[in-house]
Amino acid sequence: MKSNIALIALLASGFMASAQADAIEAGIAKYREMLQDGNPAELFEMAGEELWTTPRGPKQATLEACDLGKGPGVIKGAFVELPKFFADTARVQDLESRLVTCMETLQGFDAAKLAATSYGKGEQETLRDLATYVSGQSRELKINISQAHAKEREMYEVGKRLFFMRAGPHDFACATCHAEDNKRIRLQGLPNLTGNPGDGIGFAAWPAYRVGNGQMWPMQKRLNDCYRQQRFPEPKYASDATIALGVYMGVNATGAVSIAPAIKR
Ligand code: HEC
Repeated sequence: MKSNIALIALLASGFMASAQADAIEAGIAKYREMLQDGNPAELFEMAGEELWTTPRGPKQATLEACDLGKGPGVIKGAFVELPKFFADTARVQDLESRLVTCMETLQGFDAAKLAATSYGKGEQETLRDLATYVSGQSRELKINISQAHAKEREMYEVGKRLFFMRAGPHDFACATCHAEDNKRIRLQGLPNLTGNPGDGIGFAAWPAYRVGNGQMWPMQKRLNDCYRQQRFPEPKYASDATIALGVYMGVNATGAVSIAPAIKR
C-alpha cells in the first residue's frame, strides 16, 4: 500500500492526457532523429579509438591485444555479444568490466583504483571513451548474448531477481518503472525491459550522449541514475550486480538492433 501511494505520487504529476503526451513523444523522436546525424558521441568514439592504440599505463602498452570475447584485438561485433563468460577471469563480464580487466592485465592499471574513480574523472574518462568506441563498432548489429555457459544462465537469474527486487524508502524495483508497455514519467517513455523493447531502445542504446546535460554516459552510469531514482545506494563500478542486470536486459533484447552510441535527451 505504502509503495502504491509513493508510486502514484511520483508518477501522477508526470502524466498528462495521453494524446498530448504522444504528440510530444513524437516530437522528441523526430528531434532525436535529426540530432543523430550530428551526434557528439562521435567525438568520444574518436577519442576512444585513439586511446585503444596509444601505449599507456605503468606498462606503457596499448589495448590492441585486448580480448573482448571474439579474440585478441577483435572489436567489430564484440559489443552486441557482451556480457559473456570469460575463461581467463572465470567471470561473466560486460563491456566496462572487461575493459577494466584489459587495462589491468595489459597496461598495469590498478583495477580497484579505476573502479573507485568518479565519473568523468581521470581513467573513468578513458573507460567512457573506450566503451563508446567499442560499442560504435557494433552499430546496426543485432544483440546476441550467450546463455551457453552455466555462469551466463546463473547471471541471467541473478539479474532477473535484482530487476524485480523491491526495496528502499519507496519500495521500488526496476520493474516498478520498466515492466509495462507504454508507461511514462515526466514525458519520458519508460521502456518495458522484461522483453525486447525494440531496436535501439534500452540495452541497445547505451552508451549514449545526453543532450540534456551534455554528458556521454556509459551503461553503468545509466543504471546508477536509475538506482538513484529508485533511492538505492550507488552500485560499485563494474560490480556483478550491474553485470547481471546487463545479462538480464541483454538476453531479453535478443535480436534488437544496436544503435549505440545513441543520442538521448
Ligand atoms: C522511478 C522510476 C525508475 C526506476 C525504479 C528505474 N528506472 Fe530506468 N529509467 C527511468 C527513466 C525516467 C529513464 C529515462 C527514460 C528516457 O530518458 O527516455 C530510464 C531509463 C532506463 C534505461 C535506458 C532506456 C533507453 O531506451 O534509453 C535503462 C536500460 C534502464 N532505465 C534500466 C533500469 C534498471 C535496470 C533499473 C533497476 C536497477 C531501473 N531502470 C530503475 C526510470 C526508472
